[in-house]
Amino acid sequence: MLKIQNLHAAIEEKSILKGLNLEVKAGEVHAIMGPNGAGKSTMASVIAGKEEYEVTSGSIELDGEDISELAPEERAQAGVFLSFQYPVEIPGVTVTNFIKTAINESRKAQGLEEMPAKEMLQKIREKSELLEIDRKFLSRSLNEGFSGGEKKRNEIFQMAMLEPKLAILDETDSGLDIDALRIVANGVNKLKSEDNAVIVITHYQRLLDYIVPDYVHVLHDGKIVKTGDASLALELEAKGYDWIKNELV
Ligand SMILES: Nc1ncnc2c1ncn2[C@@H]1O[C@H](COP(=O)(O)OP(=O)(O)OP(=O)(O)O)[C@@H](O)[C@H]1O
Ligand SMILES: [Mg+2]
Repeated sequence: MLKIQNLHAAIEEKSILKGLNLEVKAGEVHAIMGPNGAGKSTMASVIAGKEEYEVTSGSIELDGEDISELAPEERAQAGVFLSFQYPVEIPGVTVTNFIKTAINESRKAQGLEEMPAKEMLQKIREKSELLEIDRKFLSRSLNEGFSGGEKKRNEIFQMAMLEPKLAILDETDSGLDIDALRIVANGVNKLKSEDNAVIVITHYQRLLDYIVPDYVHVLHDGKIVKTGDASLALELEAKGYDWIKNELV
């Protein structure tokens, strides 16, 4: 599904990704861990096509097609979803209206009609139940006054509604209480299928108790320096990152 080869990317002339390789197949969950400033969020932004980053070399393929020249909206169309580490507030636009607009924009771009109101409502009901989101929440202004956990839950709700091919969750676990963590993780697990894939960026092993990854990668200084299975996350939690840095010298 996703194939990244020898990716180099920079922001304001500062080189951040330095030869990153990653292959994610349909049906897989990959966890990305690594120290602060390693380039994890940059990787997510570059896959999603945020314009402030400059890809200086390498390729990003989605289902065999190079997407590295596509605009962010086109990548979203192609099925890439990125949650935000720092979500934006949109006063006056409700959670529900935001997602309705996003879905209909996407349908328009695909030459489809707007989703019938009844179908939309049903989908909103189904996904909000799945994620244990209450009605009142859906009519609040997007991210305005949201607690950290509410922001994260909203991101997962957006993901559930948009049903992306490739979802990238950047620190979706930070700031979640134990119940919310379980709900969000269960949501991700329920949305998982043979046709989609998830990349979770996290600092903590605990999320991976709930969302069991097929692979865990350590990103350090702009590239993936170690890959393992779920047990690698436990090892990292026990030993920290220094042992990996030491292995590299
Ligand atoms: N807009 C920017 N301007 C300047 N430097 C940037 C910008 N965005 C990222 N960087 C730098 O790129 C490096 C990688 O940042 P990135 O956010 O990708 O790290 P991260 O692995 O996600 O870290 P964290 O675990 O703290 O979230 C950091 O040194 C950061 O300061
Ligand atoms: Mg980050």
